[in-house]
Amino acid sequence: MATRIVTITDHKSGKQVECPVYEGEYGAPVIDIKNLYKELGMFTFDLGYGSTAACRSAITYLDGEDGVLLHRGYPIEQLAEKSNFLEVSYLLLHGELPNQVQSDEWTHAIKMHGMTHEHLSRFYQGYRYDAHPMSVLAGVCAAVASYYHASTDIHDPESRMLTARRVIAKMPNLVSKIYRHSSGLPFVYPDNSRDHVENFMYMMFSWPTEPYVANPVALRALNLLFILHADHEQNASTSTVRLAGSAETNPFACVAAGVSTLWGKAHGGANEAVIEMLAEIGEPKNIPKFISRAKDKDDNFRLMGFGHRVYKNYDPRAKIIRQACHDLLQSMNLNLPMFEVAMELERIALEDEYFISRKLYPNVDFYSGLIYQALGIPANMFTPMFALARASGWIAQWMEMMADSDFRIGRPRQLYIGAQRRDYTAVADRG
Ligand code: ACO
Repeated sequence: MATRIVTITDHKSGKQVECPVYEGEYGAPVIDIKNLYKELGMFTFDLGYGSTAACRSAITYLDGEDGVLLHRGYPIEQLAEKSNFLEVSYLLLHGELPNQVQSDEWTHAIKMHGMTHEHLSRFYQGYRYDAHPMSVLAGVCAAVASYYHASTDIHDPESRMLTARRVIAKMPNLVSKIYRHSSGLPFVYPDNSRDHVENFMYMMFSWPTEPYVANPVALRALNLLFILHADHEQNASTSTVRLAGSAETNPFACVAAGVSTLWGKAHGGANEAVIEMLAEIGEPKNIPKFISRAKDKDDNFRLMGFGHRVYKNYDPRAKIIRQACHDLLQSMNLNLPMFEVAMELERIALEDEYFISRKLYPNVDFYSGLIYQALGIPANMFTPMFALARASGWIAQWMEMMADSDFRIGRPRQLYIGAQRRDYTAVADRG
């Protein structure tokens, strides 16, 4: 329901359009401009969507100025401390935390959908051992679509829920196979006596000839990272999933599209890029050189893991991860020189006028790679791990969009700046 009206006037033609304003539960109100084109013959122009709300959503709220992140109303700090990844996935999808019966049914269902079709394993053989894992993940997610295409009815809520369960259940299996293929190790079937995160570690790291006992410290750390990565409002990959889904495509194909977007180092690929950057810096004494490069407009180097489109304050997830990284290294008695470099880099950047004036703070990816590294996970697997977790957010957002009565295909417009109409000339007549 509109709370007020904003009138937009074209001072050239004198025409006006009245745009209703809607207030959400929190956050900036939105101006409904759907009549703008009809009344004024104009579009809005918002490169990078900095001022555009592309959907209604009740899943995640973030306040970038105050560094607040809520999933279904629950603060991320509480979820990180008290919940687990599978429960957070349930919360994102269903809107409420599960009671004991719901939790048992959910956990059981996810276990039952953890396998992948045996033939799918052959897709991995088509990739070189050193293929980037995100390329493989995008491929195999799209391949999964082929197994459930005819049987998926995206207009049926039950069929959609089954799909959501499949996505969340199969991602650990799909991701672990990438690592096994690249390492020349046999694929491992899930073991349903283990919980979701432990099963993932088991499929990744178990040795065929040895019993696998997971390190509880590692499981806790991974659970935390997965919770912190599970959803983050309408970021680039989530918006991609929604846009793909709006065309009524197969949901696994939507997830493949999300994986492709997440891969970019301005987005989820930053966790891998941070480790590369810290390795390149090497020692604290080299930090000033890299800070200068980050500030130099003629150098395209940026401090990886720094800055965020929405957070103009410390990313609350980064705060939690920083502490977790510190605790993990201490409990593992691990001296990771990169952690020292990261903390010093953060300290210097946060005192620098360039970063202060642009409100550039560490984001979720600044410390996450260090945790993965301490757990023995290779750098090129960091972004697939992010995708594993984010898939639960993607599919919850897809579910929400599909259930929206105003659902329609996403179709942005443009400001055309190309050539004017001209006539085709034969090749012999072209200069
Ligand atoms: N290092 C140096 N300068 C930076 C950085 C950075 N990491 N990030 C932004 N800036 C500067 C820009 O050069 C720009 O300066 P200017 O005003 O003098 O031109 C200003 O800060 C604003 O930057 P924008 O690019 O307009 O910010 P935008 O919101 O478009 O980009 C982004 C956000 C992509 C995250 C950016 O900060 C960045 O590239 N960070 C590094 C990559 C990264 O860590 N990505 C992970 C994000 S979290 C996630 O997706 C999971």
